[in-house]
Amino acid sequence: MSATTQTNAALMSRRAEAIPRAIGNAHAIFAEKALGSLIWDVEGKRYIDFCAGIAVVNTGHCHPRIVEAVQAQLPQFTHTCFQVVAYESYVRLAERLCELAPGNFAKKAFFMTTGAEAVENAIKLARAYTGRSALIAFNGAFHGRTMYSLALTGKVDPYKTGFGPMAPEVYHAPFPSPIHGISVEDAIAGIEKLFKNDVDPGRVAAIFVEPVQGEGGYIPAAPEFLRHLRALCDRHGILLVVDEIQTGVARTGKMFAIEHSGVVPDLITMAKGLGGGMPISAVVGRADVMDHSNPGALGSTYAGNPLACAAALAVLDVVAEEKLCERSLAIGERMRAFFRDLAGQHKSIGDVRGLGAMTAVEFFHGGDRSKPAPEIANALKTEAAKRGLLLLTCGNNGNVLRLMVPLVISDAVLDEGLRIIGELLGELVAQGKA
Ligand SMILES: Cc1ncc(COP(=O)(O)O)c(C=O)c1O
Repeated sequence: MSATTQTNAALMSRRAEAIPRAIGNAHAIFAEKALGSLIWDVEGKRYIDFCAGIAVVNTGHCHPRIVEAVQAQLPQFTHTCFQVVAYESYVRLAERLCELAPGNFAKKAFFMTTGAEAVENAIKLARAYTGRSALIAFNGAFHGRTMYSLALTGKVDPYKTGFGPMAPEVYHAPFPSPIHGISVEDAIAGIEKLFKNDVDPGRVAAIFVEPVQGEGGYIPAAPEFLRHLRALCDRHGILLVVDEIQTGVARTGKMFAIEHSGVVPDLITMAKGLGGGMPISAVVGRADVMDHSNPGALGSTYAGNPLACAAALAVLDVVAEEKLCERSLAIGERMRAFFRDLAGQHKSIGDVRGLGAMTAVEFFHGGDRSKPAPEIANALKTEAAKRGLLLLTCGNNGNVLRLMVPLVISDAVLDEGLRIIGELLGELVAQGKA
């Protein structure tokens, strides 16, 4: 059957027959093509994309520079396995990321395919280097779905349900989120409590932290908290691993979100925006940590695939040439100004926050922060899709709308999308649903 004769409903029913329920679907639509900040489905309907494939196509769908780079690589070779026969693009990408990552010391980088794999490898490096086994992560964190990254993930349903036992030696501390009643002091006290009650700091290999908690609700970590973590790590010989898988590559207005705080991590994990839609992840950081293990200890058959390396190099060019960090800051300000104005009209908007373009709107019944309103966030997501706008929710209570626009979006298309949300919220209020 040709794509043009397909319907979303028919494809969804085939999907239900062939694919497990556990692979979720935010929207019951099937893509036909995508360009910049727009997606068209198989029925020819146009959507403004405020999801970017979960913060992946920061450079937009099918950016011509990235398409061209992949096309140029395609007839040369698509796979040799870097560990078998090497290629220059892998080395160049490592050089460029080492240059871009914060830290005035010798750095090295290597590649994997998914974000979770980058996290797994950071765990291995930290354990081998420190000779310690324990790991600390935060409540509400998301670090992936493979067994050890899942153990670090700080939310049970749906990610961990039924998949235990979880990998051992992982301890979770509270993540600072003042609007949810956890101050920076509370979060720091939480770690001290772990050290007192649960794990000797001398046995902790690494602390994993997202500089802006992503799936957990788009909650920026206060810079003083990140600085405190750095000091704590230095005091106890613990490595600080910053997970930039969702926050990296201009999403927050800097190449890496951690740069906003001035903190220099030992290791950074990255993925998503790095490949501009091609699957690639990376671990970048201290050369002495990287070089601790013996040849053959790290690697993966497909990791750092030449098509993905070509795409990632083009992504770095586009981010620099099109000034996407600056654009990310401007997009974030425009979105937050819109939502703060909307919050003045609708008390269900209990918080508007973000860093650069990484923006969230949190809904509460009647504005009461003890009464999360996932119904409102979900209704907006569902209804917006009918009007041609794709949205996603997040947060421990599912009551947060997270906005992940491609950073190449024009103001006109951005405003068109924001208007749809404003109109829908007004309608929900009129119907007594918000
Ligand atoms: C902060 C963070 N870490 C890790 C991951 C896992 O990445 P992947 O889904 O590519 O395995 C994600 C994915 O959303 C993420 O946001």
